[in-house]
Amino acid sequence: MDLKQHINKNKLPRHVALIMDGNGRWAKQRGQERIFGHENGIEAVRDTVKAAAEIGIKYLTFFAFSTENWCRPLREVETLMDLLTRAIVNETPELNENGVRLQAIGDLESLPLNCREILREAMELTAKNDKLIVTVALSYSARWEIVNAVQKIAQKVADRIISPDAIDETTFINALETAKIPDPDLLIRTSGELRVSNFMLWQIAYTELYFTPVYWPDFRRRHLYQAIVDFQRRERRFGNVETHPVNTKNA
Ligand code: FPP
Repeated sequence: MDLKQHINKNKLPRHVALIMDGNGRWAKQRGQERIFGHENGIEAVRDTVKAAAEIGIKYLTFFAFSTENWCRPLREVETLMDLLTRAIVNETPELNENGVRLQAIGDLESLPLNCREILREAMELTAKNDKLIVTVALSYSARWEIVNAVQKIAQKVADRIISPDAIDETTFINALETAKIPDPDLLIRTSGELRVSNFMLWQIAYTELYFTPVYWPDFRRRHLYQAIVDFQRRERRFGNVETHPVNTKNA
């Protein structure tokens, strides 16, 4: 079955977020070190970005490195940072040629200097592109983001720029890392784990969740299409009683 033909282009999720999981287990199954799984995860990212651009998705977000991932063995952390940096260097020209904008969210100051520099250059180069916005979450966790947002707002209150009564959802949204990105319509997690692991906790309030047993290095466009077909069968109510066709909230 060609799943792509089953996708309704008028009901596409505007923003698809992905928790890439299972790299370590994928490598272990092959008698290899965990980093082998991460290396093979790059091809899954490439195929997902291409497929999303082809069908017309506007926003794609990858959870690439969590705040908690710093606690992994130093060698794994260093190799992952190196891998991410190389992936950005290698992929940016093609992303740019195809009108893709690359951006990052998270505690970017905590990244190694060369990774930060490479990322800054890639973001600058692609800043004017708008066919597809690819966001990489790096040294990111939702609780870190929320505390950070509270600090920013508290500072504005202390500086008498806003009064506490004026704080509303919009104030909060604007203080988040994702201020300029719509909430995800669809969140995909690979590897069969059924949890959200401190990812975009504010933003996924009404997001449709999709879990697949596929390990991230095996994830390909057909898996993305499967998730989208499943999403399009769902009825989104946003807490209301009426039937909303999928994706109307952000349309
Ligand atoms: C989770 O698998 C995966 C990661 C912590 C890293 C994923 C990063 C990449 C594939 C590189 C992405 C690159 C770009 C440019 C977006 P795990 O190690 O937790 O696997 P396990 O649960 O099986 O141990």
